[in-house]
Amino acid sequence: MLTIAMPKGRIFEEALCLLRQAGLAIPEEFAEHSRKLTLTLPEAGLSFFLAKPMDVPTYVEYGVADIGIVGKDVLLEEERDVYELLDLQISPCRLSVAGKPDWKPPLYPRVATKYPQVATRYFKEQGQQVEVIHLNGSIELAPIVGLADRIVDIVSTGRTLKENGLVELEVIATVTSRLIANRGSYRMKTQMITFLCEQLTSVIQEGVSV
Ligand code: PRP
Repeated sequence: MLTIAMPKGRIFEEALCLLRQAGLAIPEEFAEHSRKLTLTLPEAGLSFFLAKPMDVPTYVEYGVADIGIVGKDVLLEEERDVYELLDLQISPCRLSVAGKPDWKPPLYPRVATKYPQVATRYFKEQGQQVEVIHLNGSIELAPIVGLADRIVDIVSTGRTLKENGLVELEVIATVTSRLIANRGSYRMKTQMITFLCEQLTSVIQEGVSV
């Protein structure tokens, strides 16, 4: 049995589509809007569960999932002890610094983010002292209401920034979704995991049309 941790949210549909294209017969009932968090397909030897994206590497590191699909942004933040097997080239976006276009931040700016480790590392590398404020979502709100001078967040279409009068200032990293594996599972289930990687690679090389 191969257990796969899937991320809820923006990646889910694309990831599911990619797995189906790679030959996994995942029934329609496994949908993000359903409240059901697990799906087992005994005849296919597969088991899936749906987790918050930030938690996917944790489930994989602890081995309750053999493999998982997760954004590079989460891997950069969580730094879990897992194998990163494949760039799935889906859900491309950027992890960026953004803020109000006309805002001169103070000497010791406040930075709001869902990615406190990434933000702390980035500003340290820049030699800039900042106060990082950890929020759980709607990060764009922070500079508008005066909680922070800058944000570090995902920019995909740029629409959320634009609609809130903010601009992208610096790109920290480009992000796509990755296939990750538990180290023990990779050793014990090499054949299954390698086969899936090969299937996914050929789908990716044909051009991902999801
Ligand atoms: C993400 C991210 C931005 C937005 C960017 O939020 O945090 O807010 O999407 O996408 P865009 O550039 O296409 O507008 P998400 O929808 O995941 O929810 P959250 O605000 O709760 O984090």
